[in-house]
Amino acid sequence: MHDALFQPISLGAIQAPNRILMAPLTRGRSDPGAVPSAIMAEYYRQRAGAGLIISEAVGISIEGSGWAAAPGVWNDAQTDGWKP
Ligand SMILES: Cc1cc2nc3c(=O)[nH]c(=O)nc-3n(C[C@H](O)[C@H](O)[C@H](O)COP(=O)(O)O)c2cc1C
Repeated sequence: MHDALFQPISLGAIQAPNRILMAPLTRGRSDPGAVPSAIMAEYYRQRAGAGLIISEAVGISIEGSGWAAAPGVWNDAQTDGWKP
């Protein structure tokens, strides 16, 4: 069916409104301290029509941080930065 891409799909516990799924694609856009930034929120907002977005890789510790400007999730400033 040519319009199947726009039909809902169940993926385990996930109910996606369409079948356009975004793979994780690393950005390098966090603020100093690995704090998620306003341009990251804009990036995901621009793609919010996808059925499912898998976010970029996120560091869980300074030791696990892979590269400059990758976002983290190991302190309060970072978790607050993800909320928008
Ligand atoms: C620039 C770039 C950044 C990527 N970043 C991530 C990432 O942050 N986390 C992850 O799990 N995969 C990441 N990937 C892997 C993609 O999700 C993967 O390439 C995609 O699922 C397509 O699979 P394929 O490479 O086997 O075609 C990245 C790929 C590219 C090209």
